[in-house]
Amino acid sequence: MSFIPEPDVWLKSHFDTAAEKIVSSVFGIEGKTVLSVGCGEPLIEFGVLSRGAKRIVGLDIVPEIAGSFATTADKLSSNGFSVPADYSSRMEYVQYDGVDFPFEDASFDAVYSWGVFEHVADVRQVLSEMRRVMKPSSWGMVSVFPWFPSYYGSHLSDYIPEPFFHLKETDEWTKVKLEEYADKNPQARDLVTRHMWQEFKSLNRKSPEEFYRDVKSIGFSRHAWELLSYETTLTEAPNDATLSDLMICGTTVRFMK
Ligand SMILES: C[S@@+](CC[C@H](N)C(=O)[O-])C[C@H]1O[C@@H](n2cnc3c(N)ncnc32)[C@H](O)[C@@H]1O
Repeated sequence: MSFIPEPDVWLKSHFDTAAEKIVSSVFGIEGKTVLSVGCGEPLIEFGVLSRGAKRIVGLDIVPEIAGSFATTADKLSSNGFSVPADYSSRMEYVQYDGVDFPFEDASFDAVYSWGVFEHVADVRQVLSEMRRVMKPSSWGMVSVFPWFPSYYGSHLSDYIPEPFFHLKETDEWTKVKLEEYADKNPQARDLVTRHMWQEFKSLNRKSPEEFYRDVKSIGFSRHAWELLSYETTLTEAPNDATLSDLMICGTTVRFMK
């Protein structure tokens, strides 16, 4: 399996699959003011908006939104996805410092984060900020894939085939392997040696068990979990790794304030 899918699959997995999962996790989106933590390129946000959210704020740590709302709208429309005509008045991008959300308490009807928490430096701080800006009794959700100790946890398995290398080898070894890949695939040099390397270095290397403990410590009134797992050959996994760390590839948690 390729870690990064083909572009058409990528668009659908964000605009449809992820957005529908988010909408059902927070028990409906119609008329809600919604916060997306770590929006990146706002494909999911268009999916959530088109499913009836009143307004959506994308929060991230980078100075500018990846792409732009207009570029993403064009990309989605030209691939057959229906984007609301009034999107520009219903979407906003906000940058922050990765620590304090620049919003009042209880300002959102729903909050979510998709594919972000394996990168977040201070997980408990961001979770507690999510809780702070949620309205009382509202729902939020966080979906994470892949957790670092699992097979795809490095995000680099498309370039380095050795199973579980990220649990056994040094970062220097990994950098050399990426350079070797770039030498054989010069068109991918920038992607692999700059973007993917930085992404690898940004991973917090948490396990799902550690994240579970973090969520429990925040004080949500309810939290419900779903685990993602699939058959994986563990012959070459490190001996001291636990089965749950190796086999829990992703988690989705929904929580109520
Ligand atoms: C893999 S991308 C996911 C983007 C988008 N949610 C998606 O699924 O396509 C991870 C994003 O998390 C952002 N990020 C990393 N640390 C963050 C933090 N502490 N708070 C908010 N966003 C963060 C990165 O800048 C990046 O845009």
